Amino acid sequence: MNRGMIGVTPRPTTLADESYLEFITSFRRLAIQQMFPKVAEHGEIRLAQAMESGALEAEDGHVPLTEIQRIFGENPVTPTFQRFVRTQQEMMWRRTRESFLRDADTLMAWMEEAAAKAPERLHIEPGFTPPEYTRREIHCQPGGYTDDPLGGAVYHYGTKVFYEGFNDQDELHAELVERATPPADGKVARVLDIGCSIGQATTLLKDRFPDAEVWGLDVGEPMIRYAHARALDHGKEVHFKQALAEDTGFESDSFDLVLSYIVFHEVPVQKMREILAETYRVLRPGGSFTIYEFPSNDKGQVSASTRFLVDYDSRNNCEPYSPDFVAADFRGIIAEAGFEVADGPGLSNDFLQSIVATKPA
Ligand SMILES: C[S@@+](CC[C@H](N)C(=O)[O-])C[C@H]1O[C@@H](n2cnc3c(N)ncnc32)[C@H](O)[C@@H]1O
Repeated sequence: MNRGMIGVTPRPTTLADESYLEFITSFRRLAIQQMFPKVAEHGEIRLAQAMESGALEAEDGHVPLTEIQRIFGENPVTPTFQRFVRTQQEMMWRRTRESFLRDADTLMAWMEEAAAKAPERLHIEPGFTPPEYTRREIHCQPGGYTDDPLGGAVYHYGTKVFYEGFNDQDELHAELVERATPPADGKVARVLDIGCSIGQATTLLKDRFPDAEVWGLDVGEPMIRYAHARALDHGKEVHFKQALAEDTGFESDSFDLVLSYIVFHEVPVQKMREILAETYRVLRPGGSFTIYEFPSNDKGQVSASTRFLVDYDSRNNCEPYSPDFVAADFRGIIAEAGFEVADGPGLSNDFLQSIVATKPA
């Protein structure tokens, strides 16, 4: 059933699955790239009109979310857009999982062989139990990051659809890694990618810093096992560890550079604080932490259309923690952990923000 690769992404196990998922990709493109900009434009205009006429007033400088929901909801296209977003997500995961399930034995054997071949680079503690908050089915992926043994393969192809075919060669991860900010003294001997999922950035970090010891850390065992097998196939000597980002088990002051890509909006705010404290602990003085994330309210006001979208996704599209993240003073929370905070390198996806947090030397 090995049908080869699309770029560096394994193909689904049948041509019928691949065609179906191609259709879902265009369905997603229609919803996100064609419909949402119209819904956003219409809603922002109506909000501005309501503010101008005095029918609507901001509270503490913010338009109340209930008013955003009401005004955006008056557009007859909005519910269709919302239904499309949810339905494509359900169809995408269902068919992706069905496809890889057909070849489950081969996939499991591939990961087991890799584990046997390079056990010194796969760090899984027997008896580790992911806490409940990490076991939510984020983005509606069946079994989430932690509970489906095929989760790595399913996540890989699911995100290929999610990125609408623009990450088939890991090109998005290549940009994240290329733009990550090294410490001012340039010394990079040990690197950590937190919430690494299937290790796409982790292996590219090894390409950028070939002499460094590179680690990917994630709470999800299926993610880590897939990441490890994939790295081996790619001939990359990197370590993967199943652990909590708030309790990594690494020595203090032991990393020069840490990266995180879209992890913080997927944890509760209290966990975000704990992860930042732990990252501060494991970074050496002068070490540098590059963070790519969702927008948050400290970076100027998040637009009404983003708040509308994030709120919808949270309630109806399995993003339980993101509204609190978006409303948070993210930079303030990073600074409270002891970091010096500066704007990061920016990405071609300008929905995301980037931050560089430095542990004072
Ligand atoms: C959206 S994915 C991150 C994508 C990934 N950074 C990449 O390069 O594509 C979020 C990841 O964070 C992991 N995660 C969530 N909470 C975590 C925690 N407390 N500790 C470690 N990993 C966590 C999840 O298992 C998931 O793989």
